[in-house]
Amino acid sequence: MFAFNFNKIAMPIFYGKVALMTFLKSFNTQNKTIGFVPTMGALHQGHISLMQQSLNENDVTVVSIFVNPTQFNNPEDLLKYPRTIELDTEKIYGLNSDIAIFAPTVDDIYEGEVLSQSFDFDGLENQMEGKFRPGHFDGVGTIVKRLFEIVTPNNAYFGEKDFQQLQIVKKMTQKNQLPVTIVGCPIYREENGLAMSSRNERLTTEQREQASLIYKTITQAKELFQTKSAEEVTKWVESIFENNDTFELEYFQIADEATLLPCIEKSENNNYRAFIAVFVNNIRLIDTISLK
Ligand code: PAJ
Repeated sequence: MFAFNFNKIAMPIFYGKVALMTFLKSFNTQNKTIGFVPTMGALHQGHISLMQQSLNENDVTVVSIFVNPTQFNNPEDLLKYPRTIELDTEKIYGLNSDIAIFAPTVDDIYEGEVLSQSFDFDGLENQMEGKFRPGHFDGVGTIVKRLFEIVTPNNAYFGEKDFQQLQIVKKMTQKNQLPVTIVGCPIYREENGLAMSSRNERLTTEQREQASLIYKTITQAKELFQTKSAEEVTKWVESIFENNDTFELEYFQIADEATLLPCIEKSENNNYRAFIAVFVNNIRLIDTISLK
């Protein structure tokens, strides 16, 4: 089932998996490449930059908009998640009207049982976000695998903003031997350095300005890490947030990029990355930076 958008001559929106699969079949048989950008909607420039990269590198681009219930450990967050399909559609067609939008229902994806599969991500799931959001990555693995089966992409695009998610998706793809290349894309930032996120909309103008502190701090942490240990850098970051009334630091961690294990002692052979999660009121913001 799909509906036509009569205002513009654009690709129809696909609301059901069967219609999308039928449409994509011709690309599979003609050996054309399918690029895929999975999203939960509430689109911003960060999402758009992923779509642009997919357009540059593939014959057709599919963007999914699906608020995936199984990755929310907090039911209130799921309820409150913005659903702005019309605005999202406008933004996507504003970029390119040949993008195929896939906006399935929960039933169409989960077919009755809204449950996560259990995954073994070799421990990646136990660090950082995994500690604070139990079950979250099983939900992500479940939906991404399901979407890959439907879309059959050659290339799938994920933001480094959610670096742990990116590594987990790579692991899931590798373990299940799925024929898709996972492409990590750079973090798109607001002018003041704040990483773009749909949650930024919930900040007041003042908080949004002040939130530049997050990127400023991790950039300085990167500088410090050239000469100091992970522990010293972590203490320094904690001290920045200690006496701050606006921000509450949930975690700052320097970890190995491949295993996501905390850096205890620096080794020349490993690539490290800093990860941070901060609350402003009840709004949780995350960011990350390579320390290379
Ligand atoms: P969502 O939060 O909508 O993000 C969709 C994609 O956009 C993710 O790969 C995310 O890392 C990327 N992204 C978000 N903000 C970005 C920014 N500022 N710069 C670059 N990329 C950015 O992540 C999810 O949805 C879901 O977990 C999903 C993978 C769709 C599974 O449900």
